Amino acid sequence: MKILAIETSCDETACAIVENGVTEIVSVVASSKDFHEATGGIVPEIAARKQIEFIAPVLDQTLKKYSKNVDTIDALAVTVGPGLIGSLLVGVEAAKALSIAWSKPLVPVNHLVGHIYGNFVNNKESIEFPALVLVVSGGHTDFILMRNHGAIEYLGGTLDDAAGEAFDKTARLLGLAKYLGGVQLSNLAATCKVNKAIGQLPRPMIDMPNYDVSFSGLKTAVKRLIDKNVYSPEVIACEFETALIDVLAAKITRAIKKYKPVSLLLGGGVSANTALRSRMQLIAKDSSISFNVPPLSLCTDNAVYIASAAYFNYKPKTIENIFAKPSLGVMDEA
Ligand code: KG4
Ligand code: ZN
Repeated sequence: MKILAIETSCDETACAIVENGVTEIVSVVASSKDFHEATGGIVPEIAARKQIEFIAPVLDQTLKKYSKNVDTIDALAVTVGPGLIGSLLVGVEAAKALSIAWSKPLVPVNHLVGHIYGNFVNNKESIEFPALVLVVSGGHTDFILMRNHGAIEYLGGTLDDAAGEAFDKTARLLGLAKYLGGVQLSNLAATCKVNKAIGQLPRPMIDMPNYDVSFSGLKTAVKRLIDKNVYSPEVIACEFETALIDVLAAKITRAIKKYKPVSLLLGGGVSANTALRSRMQLIAKDSSISFNVPPLSLCTDNAVYIASAAYFNYKPKTIENIFAKPSLGVMDEA
């Protein structure tokens, strides 16, 4: 089954065609990131306008690259949330229009569930259940137990800032980037040979016997550490990254002990982080369970994993029942 998916939840306009949830045929991604860098943060109105500008060319390019008749596409899928309302509406309405024009079923997809499926695409190894999943993106940090496709349980998550948000705010404090500085921060941290500031930042909620995390205090602590003027930026970057990963690692280790999963999966933009990937891989190895993480191209937002999620959770709805849902949680129906 071939599914054409559309993803427009934030500042990426993406379209992809995927076969049987695992074989990527075409993927096109356009981004309005540069415009938000100029304003030092995302302006939802600009993101929505760029979605409108990009959606038709992105669809056109996808179909040109596919080069087969649209009759060979079996169904459509679209991200309905969470995300920015103006951005989401563009993808949702485009998908509905195509569904009518082409008489094809349309599957609404939860973006957070989509992130999990970055693990399933182009992956020759079959992933076994139950799987423990950590979704770490710009807006979410979710610990999930996945017993099967369509059978997920929320274990806990962030009470305030998401992991990606913490990376971005810290990168801004260090003057590395005004918008989405996660990569720059982790690149700087990687240049630190010795973490001379070890223990100088808190590991919030690390000992709490649950799967909730809180990262908003970290950035205040980073600010104080910068103001002390004792440590170099790369040492602070490294200590920040270590503190955040220490917390995620402690919670994952605890969840493995309790739920005894056979696989550990990562998803979301922050799963592109090298230090996080290696730490999680080590935990999985020590616990004798398999470890999967999406390739870098499938960590940040794209439509490939949306098509995959639609295939493995195939529940088309009539267009009257498909809406943009900006504040959808991972457990909410798309
Ligand atoms: O999943 P995503 O593309 O968008 C959302 O759905 O939110 O995640 C974007 C987030 C941003 O906060 C970005 O800074 C972060 O992922 N990110 C990283 C890295 N690459 C992207 N954070 C840390 N290290 C990275 N290498
Ligand atoms: Zn995302």
